[in-house]
Amino acid sequence: MRVDLRSDTFTLPTQGMRDAIYTAEVGDDVYGEDPTVNRLEETGAALSGKEEALFVSSGCMGNLIAIALQAGRGTEVLCAGESHIVCHEIGALSSLGQTQPTIVESTKDGLIIPQALEKYRRSRSYDMADRALVEVENTTSGVIYPLEDLKRIHSFAKDNGMKVHMDGARIFNAVVETGIPLDRWASCCDTVTFCLSKGLGAPMGSLLCGTKEFIGRARRMRKLLGGGMRQIGFMAAAGLYALENNVDRLAEDHAHALRIRRALEETGWARIERFGTNMVFFSTSGIGEDEVVRRFAQKGIIFAVDAGMCRMVTSINVDDAMTDYVVNEIRSFQP
Ligand SMILES: Cc1ncc(COP(=O)(O)O)c(C=O)c1O
Repeated sequence: MRVDLRSDTFTLPTQGMRDAIYTAEVGDDVYGEDPTVNRLEETGAALSGKEEALFVSSGCMGNLIAIALQAGRGTEVLCAGESHIVCHEIGALSSLGQTQPTIVESTKDGLIIPQALEKYRRSRSYDMADRALVEVENTTSGVIYPLEDLKRIHSFAKDNGMKVHMDGARIFNAVVETGIPLDRWASCCDTVTFCLSKGLGAPMGSLLCGTKEFIGRARRMRKLLGGGMRQIGFMAAAGLYALENNVDRLAEDHAHALRIRRALEETGWARIERFGTNMVFFSTSGIGEDEVVRRFAQKGIIFAVDAGMCRMVTSINVDDAMTDYVVNEIRSFQP
């Protein structure tokens, strides 16, 4: 058996999704004439409670547009050191967004500590970058922000003339796990992106949501970045299918991750370092992390080492039988 636990970015479209792609009604989206894209954007706006949404090719593009337009030249963005925009987006916030990150104190799971923001309150100075934006990532490595913390972060930002952008690449994992709907999470930020790829299983695409005025500017910037796409309704159809069919089932991924966590906890050689929704991070003793990865790969169980920890991610690619197999292999593993 082969079980791929590297990431939920490896998910593949199901037959139902492929059928939706095949039969999609399309048009030229650069002219706003793709009915499927329009439907997806209306759905994203309604779900997030924002005025409008824009279909962008990736989470990175959505984050970049949000940051460039709400921060930009001569500004700084307050964010956690482990955030995706700092670690995994090739420095786009600086190289293309013309802003700089200021790393603020975060928990061991990488969530910004709201109280710690107090020391970033300051008045404008002729020689300092303007603090324009706070960026939060929800979930961060599978871990969900407490809603109250996000509210405090948002109110700090408002008091200080700043905006909040939420990288909600996996926000639906938070929605399903907590029962808190997307619009409540999104009420804690000015703009939010969420990915249709990842756990929702679409081949590509994210939605960037915000005010009508903001999305108007975002649409122009998407074009500037080469992200204006023509008959992209084929991919929007996959996104719509994902929102209609693949959100509730994320609970299965969480249940699978919990079973894996519990099996690891029972061993003497694995220690859970971080856990939330569909991600399990663990360190090992008596055997190196890379060696554990290599040995499990021999059994067909594929996962990665991330930030010095083994990382297992569950997704639509991993069913009950595969989880049974992983749990049994963990139990019988001899370091
Ligand atoms: C938290 C987070 N934000 C943004 C992204 C970027 O998404 P994309 O790969 O679609 O650019 C990822 C991708 O894994 C992510 O994990």
